[in-house]
Amino acid sequence: MKAIILAAGKGTRLRPLTYTTAKHLLPVANKPIIFFVIDQIARAGIWEIGLIVSPENIDLIKAAVGDGSRWGVRITYIIQEQPKGLAHAVSVAKGFLGHDKFLMFLGDNLIEGGVAPLVEKFERGAAAATVLLKEVPDPRQFGVAILDERGDLKQLIEKPKDPPTNLAVVGVYMFNHKVHDAIAKIKPSFRGELEITDAIQELLNAGEQIHAKVLDGWWLDTGKKDDILEANRVVLDEYASKAIHGEVSEESKITGRVEVAKTAKVIRSVIRGPVVIGEGAVVEDCFIGPFTAVGPKSVLKNVIIEHSVLLEGCTLMDVGRVEDSLIGRNAKVTKVADGRDSLRLLIGDDSEVQV
Ligand code: DAU
Repeated sequence: MKAIILAAGKGTRLRPLTYTTAKHLLPVANKPIIFFVIDQIARAGIWEIGLIVSPENIDLIKAAVGDGSRWGVRITYIIQEQPKGLAHAVSVAKGFLGHDKFLMFLGDNLIEGGVAPLVEKFERGAAAATVLLKEVPDPRQFGVAILDERGDLKQLIEKPKDPPTNLAVVGVYMFNHKVHDAIAKIKPSFRGELEITDAIQELLNAGEQIHAKVLDGWWLDTGKKDDILEANRVVLDEYASKAIHGEVSEESKITGRVEVAKTAKVIRSVIRGPVVIGEGAVVEDCFIGPFTAVGPKSVLKNVIIEHSVLLEGCTLMDVGRVEDSLIGRNAKVTKVADGRDSLRLLIGDDSEVQV
């Protein structure tokens, strides 16, 4: 069994951060999203992974992920020249996949637990595909599934305006080689993409056996700012531990699961976990509340912050209370020095400021 991770695509909904990085490299709990995906694939015992990237993000992703030896896997980079759809990405990887069964993981999706039991079941069985589903309150932005009375997959519809069920298609799929013929038969959808949902529907129409598994645990699709904050919340809630490797001054108070990385400093501050503070960060006279990830080398002075993600090298000083924020690398948020009641901004294209 092989795996492919889809990490091409433009990440437009996460601009301006995605002008300088790939969305799959944005961190939750100070770790790039795609690392969680590779962890889960490696833990399912799959070591041959094709990583589908775009010509624009290949260098960034390669620099962060490398050859996969860190996870004991072998990564092959496969360029998809244009994001022409998930099924198109599979067709680009056809040479890498050969006749093998494979796991396909969207590089911006995270699911609770792992995929090991599902992969094992699929490897042993005769199904042409397995799809994962999750009940969501509003499935309009996803593929949506209809099951029959036995719980088998009956129909899939991509982003329906009027969803017939609440069962969204999760971005983790398993296929055997038959999907390649199905992809060869489908046409671009209303949004101009070759949809994997259409290829699965094609398999269904051909009478192939397709398993549908409804997930009990959480599923996160990290396409937008609030999704990243939610992913950060869920992952910190689940994985953060109490681990103080850096310096914490005596006047500081740390409660709950807080990770202070080595070379980080916490001075006269109150930190209430779950929180992670990256290497070389300095936190002084602050309150850091739950579900906050402070990136490496960030400097926070005299701020109250919670439920936020700060990337590497941010500076926040004397700005009162910050909540629900996603702040890019080396960004600075400080108080106007002469005390005037005005904003002075130098912010990138497509930034968003709420005051
Ligand atoms: O997240 C689950 C949803 O993912 C499913 O419910 C939908 O059925 C499925 O079509 C897909 O919808 P999205 O519109 O959310 O897909 P998106 O365009 O965001 O792409 C998902 C990932 O795949 C993202 O990491 C980028 C990558 N990708 C996307 C395209 C279109 C590629 O690598 N190549 C592509 O051509």
